[in-house]
Amino acid sequence: MITKKLEKEMNDQINREFYSAYLYLSMSAWFKEQNFDGFANWMNVQYQEESFHAMKLFEYVVERGGKIVLQQIDQPDNEFESVTKIFELTLEHERFITGCINNLMNVAIEEKDHAAKSFLQWYIDEQVEEEANADKLLQTIKMVKANPHTLYMMDKELTTRSFTPPAPV
Ligand code: FEO
Repeated sequence: MITKKLEKEMNDQINREFYSAYLYLSMSAWFKEQNFDGFANWMNVQYQEESFHAMKLFEYVVERGGKIVLQQIDQPDNEFESVTKIFELTLEHERFITGCINNLMNVAIEEKDHAAKSFLQWYIDEQVEEEANADKLLQTIKMVKANPHTLYMMDKELTTRSFTPPAPV
């Protein structure tokens, strides 16, 4: 069993992961409208990853005998200023999520739940990659934004990204 406190925190995180999925799907739609199919694809893969993050937590709570309480998902923005702005928002959002995951780990430590700590380590490591991916794209976009041709080439490259669910551990 997980404690009621951890159960509540994990349910809150499930909601934040679904919100992240929603946010990136909304960004994907915006990129589609702008005919940036590669960036739209990148955001669609983000959407799938976030759904996976939510469901991995969902299954863990169930496995530990906890109760799932799904909450309302906030409406994400649907208009964005620019490609650069979107990736600034993405990096900012991932940093926020990293903070939430760290808080969740702190609760698992306080509750002396070693199994939860081991489970949450996956999310701690995943956030390093999430922030690094968003930051790398943001820095590249900042570098090339004055050059529409390079931005176009970058968009083309991003059409190849696909989602592969991690193997179960
Ligand atoms: Fe689920 Fe992008 O963190």
